[in-house]
Amino acid sequence: MKEIICLKDVRREYRMGHNIVTALDGVSFTINEGEFVSIMGPSGSGKTTCMNLIGCLDRPTSGLVRIGGEDISLLSDRALAALRSRTLGFVFQQYHLIPSMTVLENVMLPLRYQGVEKSRWKELAVSALERVDLGDRMNHLPHELSGGQNQRAAIARAVVGSPKIILADEPTGALDSQTGKTVLSIFSDINASGATVIIVTHDPLVGAQAKRLVKILDGRLD
Ligand SMILES: Nc1ncnc2c1ncn2[C@@H]1O[C@H](COP(=O)(O)OP(=O)(O)OP(=O)(O)O)[C@@H](O)[C@H]1O
Ligand SMILES: [Mg+2]
Repeated sequence: MKEIICLKDVRREYRMGHNIVTALDGVSFTINEGEFVSIMGPSGSGKTTCMNLIGCLDRPTSGLVRIGGEDISLLSDRALAALRSRTLGFVFQQYHLIPSMTVLENVMLPLRYQGVEKSRWKELAVSALERVDLGDRMNHLPHELSGGQNQRAAIARAVVGSPKIILADEPTGALDSQTGKTVLSIFSDINASGATVIIVTHDPLVGAQAKRLVKILDGRLD
C-alpha cells in the first residue's frame, strides 16, 4: 500500500473579525493509492475545508498535509498549482462548466494547463466523454444538457488528464436519486481503473458505495 494523501494534526482556522472559527481541529488520516473513500458529516463539520486542503486549494493553519509525497506547506504557490494540475481532478456539486464553451471545449481545457501537446487535446477529451457516455452530446453547450449530463461532462473534465486523485464535493447533491446512481457508478469505474477517489457527501447511498468512510463532526474525526 502506497500513501497518496496524509493529514497529520491538521488545524484550519478562519479569522472572522475578532472571532476565530476552527473549521478543522486536529485531523489525521492517511489514504493509500487506489482507495475509494467517502467523507461524511453534518453541514458545517469541515468536509469542504478538508477537501480544499487535499486539493491543494488551501493550506493548513498548522499540521501536515502531504499529497503525492510532497509536504504542501513547503511548496511555492506556483509549485502547488503545478502539483494540483498534475495530480488532482475536481468535481463540484454545481458542475462549474464554462457556459459559453461546448462540452468538448470544457473537457479539453485542463489539458492546456497540464502542458499536454495541443494536437492531443481533442482525442483525449473525446475519449473521456465516451467514458461517461456523452460522445453524442459533446458539441452542445452546458445549458442544452440535463443536470446529470452536465455532471458527467464535469467528471470527464476531471479525468481527462488521468490524474491520480479525483475529488468530488457533493457530486450527486443536485441530482435526482436515479441520476445520482449513474454518476456514482461512473466514480466506481474510475476507481476500478486505478484512480484514488474521494467523495464528500451527506447521502448515505453514496457513503455505502465507497470502500471506506471518514466521518467528521465539528472539525474532528468522529
Ligand atoms: N472562508 C471561510 N471563512 C470563515 N469561515 C469559514 C469559511 N469556510 C468555512 N468556514 C466555516 O468553517 C466550518 C466548516 O465549513 P465547511 O465548509 O468545511 O463545512 P462542510 O462540512 O463542507 O458543510 P456543508 O455540508 O454545509 O457543505 C463552518 O463553521 C464554516 O462556517
Ligand atoms: Mg461543504
